Amino acid sequence: MRIKKNIAAALLALTMAYCAAAQAAAPPDNIVRMNPFVSTAKTGFSVNGDAATARTVYGKVQSYGNIGAAPVGGWMAAAATDIKFLKPGAAPDGFDSVDLPHSWGKDPIRLLRTDFIMPDNVNGFALAGNVSLAFSGSGTMDVYVNGKKVKSLTGGGDLDITGRIKPGETVTLGVKITEMTGRGKLQSVTLRSADLDALRAPVDEILTKIETARLLFEQLPRKPKGLLDAVISAGREIDALKGVTDIARVRAALDAIKTLLAPIDELTARYPVFNAGPALQNVKQDAITVTWETRAPAPSAVYYGKGALDSVMSDPAPVTFHKVAITGLDTETEYKYLAVSAEMAAPESTFKTAIRRDTPFSFMVFADDQSNPQIFEPLVDRMIPLKPDLVISVGDEVGTGSDYAAWAREFFYPLRRLISHTPFFVAIGNHEYGGYACGKPVPWFDNYMALPANHGYYYAVTYGNSRFIMFNQQEDPGCPGIVPGTEQYEWLLRELESPEYKAADFHFMFMHKPPYSNCWAGGYYDGEASVRANVVPLIEKYGVDIVFSGHTHDYERGQWPRPGGPYYIITGGAGGHLDDTVYKEWPQMQLHAFVHHFSHVTINGNKLSFEAVDADGNIIDTFEIVKE
Ligand SMILES: [Fe+2]
Ligand SMILES: [Fe+2]
Repeated sequence: MRIKKNIAAALLALTMAYCAAAQAAAPPDNIVRMNPFVSTAKTGFSVNGDAATARTVYGKVQSYGNIGAAPVGGWMAAAATDIKFLKPGAAPDGFDSVDLPHSWGKDPIRLLRTDFIMPDNVNGFALAGNVSLAFSGSGTMDVYVNGKKVKSLTGGGDLDITGRIKPGETVTLGVKITEMTGRGKLQSVTLRSADLDALRAPVDEILTKIETARLLFEQLPRKPKGLLDAVISAGREIDALKGVTDIARVRAALDAIKTLLAPIDELTARYPVFNAGPALQNVKQDAITVTWETRAPAPSAVYYGKGALDSVMSDPAPVTFHKVAITGLDTETEYKYLAVSAEMAAPESTFKTAIRRDTPFSFMVFADDQSNPQIFEPLVDRMIPLKPDLVISVGDEVGTGSDYAAWAREFFYPLRRLISHTPFFVAIGNHEYGGYACGKPVPWFDNYMALPANHGYYYAVTYGNSRFIMFNQQEDPGCPGIVPGTEQYEWLLRELESPEYKAADFHFMFMHKPPYSNCWAGGYYDGEASVRANVVPLIEKYGVDIVFSGHTHDYERGQWPRPGGPYYIITGGAGGHLDDTVYKEWPQMQLHAFVHHFSHVTINGNKLSFEAVDADGNIIDTFEIVKE
């Protein structure tokens, strides 16, 4: 029996291996094709009908995730250093009322104080379990209670006050913040009750389900039976909690909602919902990778073909992050494709394999779309009609890399109508490392991206007559950047001497943090000294044409030496909050503009045309490079 089983397992393994190769096949009849992508920017990001109902219920449930937390207010702040000012009594002269978050300029030390009255409830619910004060901000925070130092925190943390301050008792709460970088900040101070905070887990579970329901409404052409009723009933359960301050009743309501929403799991087994993508990555002359994310684990298949969808590349393994590499394609050729998971397909789209060496082409470059899809998507609407062959992001794709939801919301969703038919490449930024230290992997980046690199997040690719070099300035522990002694620097030296580099007519570098920057907001910044010292000499020696960066949230253009030297373009205006202050006037940088924008480069033989385009479609800068 055991031998037979092993034979069966071997046969199954063979079948799977066979499935992983391209086969001739058309999409099965039972596949449901999701509704086409539409620009929600044009409708003010509102959703209609049942999706809107789901969003409303989502908001109601969401508020119960925070019932265990209440902000501590009444803060006063001064640029004083003597901690005697944190003793009980009237606030001394020099202390001004401030709201949190409170940031200040260059003072390395700042004192903040408030008279805190211990309540017996949080948001109307009786305090239960451990009670603490959660501090969040920058630098070293020494926490004082009635003038006595009780804890030292770095960047934030919790102070356990269970049983130490009685309800009704007033204490003077003091914080001394030491921050040498000129960016001091007290973000928030929050009273937290552990038992109430424990509601966050079931609330999050329900929110995930309601979000899935919203996407089912948005994506499926036919309304799934019973789903709307379940969502409306969930909303009624939450409405019935109005005025209720009994935690047991809230728990019971959340349990009832979980039961109501249970059928969503059966639905997503068939229709797993496209949470991100499909997106095109790692394009080559004979290959491309189609990536997408489903909200439930499902197999992956991409049906494709030049005329009809007559071939398939598939993988039966149930996953949520799908990466299907299609190989054996013809150069500079357009294919139709359909990405399928279980019984659900994304809208049919097209891709084009990489062009022959001398075919004219164009590419978009943008950076710092982070945090503001409502600004980024309208900008993407400006990119689409220009029909680029490639899209390149120079980092800060998301506000915080450890925030899972940000990757779909801030990057893949606003870009979906562009990168579902135009391949993209990324040079990673520091915000993708938000929550992770330099030198560590960025798990969501690994899940969503299909880079040509098999090490680190730095790599080089050829497209047409051009060479594109992508850096990762967070690659090494301690964030030294691209400096001698690191593997990335040694790789760069090899790259610059490689046949691929030498064979290209145009050479571009993409590094998130710029060598030169004139502008910033809220403190001094003038670019990266390590790039100026270590990479700029190579940029000049090896004739790089344009170095693209972001990090500074504006548009800046420089050329150095002039004329004929490399261009330094900062194109950090895809959505993040704009910088507003000129701190430096590098002779290397000749222009700046505080506008949301992207860059568009067109190459035709020996001629390169550059345009920076703002959110209204105006060309705000332009230049040409012509090779002799
Ligand atoms: Fe940024
Ligand atoms: Fe940045």
